[in-house]
Amino acid sequence: MSKEHKITMLGTGLIGMFYTKTLHEQRGKDRVHAVYSRSEEKVKKFAKDWDIPEYYTSMEAAINDPETDVVVIGLPNNLHKEAVELSAKAGKAILCTKPLARNAGEAKRLLEFVEKAGVFHAYLEDLAYTPKTLKSLASVKKGDLGRILWVRSREAHSGPHSEWFWNIEQAGGGAIIDLGCHCIEIARNFIGKNIKPLEVMCWADTQVHPIDTEDNGIGLVKYENGAIGQFEVSWTFRGGMDLRDEVSGTEGSIWLNHFLRTGFEMFTAENKSGYVAEKSESDTGWLFPVGDEVHELGYVSMFNDVFNALDNGTEPMESFYDGYIVNAIMDACYRSSKSKKWETIHIIDWRGIEQGKKSSVTESFDKNYFLIKKERMPDGQLKLILKEKKSGRMIERVIKEGGHLEDD
Ligand SMILES: NC(=O)c1ccc[n+]([C@@H]2O[C@H](COP(=O)([O-])OP(=O)(O)OC[C@H]3O[C@@H](n4cnc5c(N)ncnc54)[C@H](O)[C@@H]3O)[C@@H](O)[C@H]2O)c1
Repeated sequence: MSKEHKITMLGTGLIGMFYTKTLHEQRGKDRVHAVYSRSEEKVKKFAKDWDIPEYYTSMEAAINDPETDVVVIGLPNNLHKEAVELSAKAGKAILCTKPLARNAGEAKRLLEFVEKAGVFHAYLEDLAYTPKTLKSLASVKKGDLGRILWVRSREAHSGPHSEWFWNIEQAGGGAIIDLGCHCIEIARNFIGKNIKPLEVMCWADTQVHPIDTEDNGIGLVKYENGAIGQFEVSWTFRGGMDLRDEVSGTEGSIWLNHFLRTGFEMFTAENKSGYVAEKSESDTGWLFPVGDEVHELGYVSMFNDVFNALDNGTEPMESFYDGYIVNAIMDACYRSSKSKKWETIHIIDWRGIEQGKKSSVTESFDKNYFLIKKERMPDGQLKLILKEKKSGRMIERVIKEGGHLEDD
């Protein structure tokens, strides 16, 4: 039975606003009942704008509001630990934004807090829930793409909107911690969350800004079944927010563009409204607006899944454990970017399968040959590349009319 939840929202910044907008602008019953921010002026205004009955300038008091049963954490990364610890102590359901923590050690502590307290927990990884991603995941789960071999996920924009993101102490890292966490979890979803990520090769550099952390990064995450997750992140990309994914399997491929090329393009010489879409850099000329931003970014499906799981006593699609795995992968990325070598991903308490070896898909053609490749040539012939099982020799054959093989 669907129950009405009252929520404490921690943070009134960009994500606090997107989360509240998602919850309040739909016809759902769950409402933000209490909100926390350090500044009395800001929190009062936020409460008024979104019709929230209670506001607090003390995090602890907001978490312990007697009427709320769920806490949503939308605070800078360095404050997630304190917020989770206090919320677990209060016995409330805890939904935490990404990244779960600044590193795997901290993420593990958060996982322990919620598991010890026995409270419901969800990792708010919205980009695993975009409408296109959910439909693609359903296709992949049915086997439409065969075995997944390679997932490329890219998030790039011109850099974050608040000072704390640029401070390594508060954020834990740069573009990798901020954006790579999305890309890594998207790839895990397509490859299979029970497949163990083994090692990482990563390049990270500070190409533009005078900061102590990376503003660009590229990484390869190798999985035990041989699949590769590739992420590309940037805080210096010009022209809006580039959110793209590509999935390649033995039987098919998917290309997704979530933001800049959604099929909605508009020209204006005089923009009266100003805002176009998150991280859009211009508001005149040719623009790429986004139909329903909270939907396209996955927030609506994410909260539906999370609150349904809470009501039904089931697991949401993304839990604190997933957040911990993502942090463990990012830790290895930072080590690899320094060592310039493949670095092992250290996971304490792996809960997926132990496969032990790479999968392979070698299709037998008949008792003597493996089928390597089949292609229709410009002259209409169907050509096969075959490998002789006994000798290992590669040969070509053409299928003749009636389906017979042409002689050698
Ligand atoms: N797609 C997503 O899921 C997504 C998008 C943006 C941000 N985030 C995450 O949400 C969190 C917040 O990011 P944001 O973009 O909303 O940041 P923001 O800077 O817009 O807002 C941060 C909020 O935290 C408060 N705050 C800042 N420093 C504080 C301090 N020292 N003590 C107490 N409160 C403090 C601010 O007043 C504000 O209310 C981060 O963990 C970020 O990674 C997630």
